[in-house]
Amino acid sequence: MLETVENIRRQFNERVSKADTIEEIENIRVDFLGKKGILTNALKGLKDIGANDKRAFGIELNKLKNEIEECILAKKASVNDMLQARLENEAERFDFTTPASISVGSLHPVTIIQKKIEDIFKTMGFIIEDGMEIETEYNNFESVNIPADHPARDMQDTFYLNNGQLLKTHTSAAQNAIMRKYGPPKKGEPLRVLFPGRCFRNENIDASHENTFFQLEGMMIGEDISISNLIYFMKVLLSEVFEKDVRVRLRPGFFPFVEPGFELDISCLICGGAGCATCKQSGWVELLPCGMIHPNVLRMGGIDPDEYTGFAFGLGLARLVMMKYGIKNIRALNSGNLKILKQFSIK
Ligand code: FA5
Repeated sequence: MLETVENIRRQFNERVSKADTIEEIENIRVDFLGKKGILTNALKGLKDIGANDKRAFGIELNKLKNEIEECILAKKASVNDMLQARLENEAERFDFTTPASISVGSLHPVTIIQKKIEDIFKTMGFIIEDGMEIETEYNNFESVNIPADHPARDMQDTFYLNNGQLLKTHTSAAQNAIMRKYGPPKKGEPLRVLFPGRCFRNENIDASHENTFFQLEGMMIGEDISISNLIYFMKVLLSEVFEKDVRVRLRPGFFPFVEPGFELDISCLICGGAGCATCKQSGWVELLPCGMIHPNVLRMGGIDPDEYTGFAFGLGLARLVMMKYGIKNIRALNSGNLKILKQFSIK
């Protein structure tokens, strides 16, 4: 019988000496002291032993039971201490100043130039506004002086939605809401707003036309805003973005929401003006239509055209980005091709 006790003790010691996790120690406890454990079974067997041996065997088994319980507790404590020490050691060794080895993304070139222009205009007192992408016919057309039967609607092929709304074809769709939001400007404090946005047109795609592209619109309304203000801001915009002299030409342009209206073209920077696919062999790229806001548009925006004048411009942001970075085909901007898009940075 003492042999049985020794046998159980040996088995236990052997297993416990190898265990180094709490889970393993717990399994050993169950195997020896659990309901069907080795030692529990031996204790249950006492009832079948003759009275003479029962007492001595019982004492030995209970001694072993206490030993095992103490050993399990001590072993668990030592494993816990070991784990704690390991964690502390790792925390000490961890250098929080080591740069994480995650690859850093980059801004899309359209975003880079948009932010740059926003910063330039903010320093000149402009507020940045956000237009909607889904618009009403009223905002996109009527409110900017393009009535339902006006031939100018044919100028822009429009994506209509089933509910009668549309994907905005130009950032000018936000003019009316912005005028109404801010109301007639106070004396000496002209309303100055910049509102970039994504536009959609059902276009035949080529090197300089996309069906989804970005414009950036600007508007200034005050008591005596004139064409010279408009030209000043256009010059600042182009010289700050290109940081070099670029050839531009201003010619009359027709837009129902401005009078007079202008087209500001830039000499194509892809071919140096010689003619290429990007400028459709003309040497010029249409970039910055602009003009003095039509009195009807001011009136519909709740601003009295007898008291106020204003200018607006609708920069072709996507095309400006192409000229700035020498991107030959507008499709690269929507391509999601990271090899192309990751090479640009803010200067
Ligand atoms: C307009 O959209 C007018 N709303 C701009 C405007 C605003 C004029 C305020 C006067 C006052 P236009 O359709 O020309 O105008 O477009 C403006 C610019 O957006 C173009 O010069 C061009 O640079 C760019 N653009 C137009 N269509 C596309 C297209 N499909 N893909 C890429 N860029 C385009």
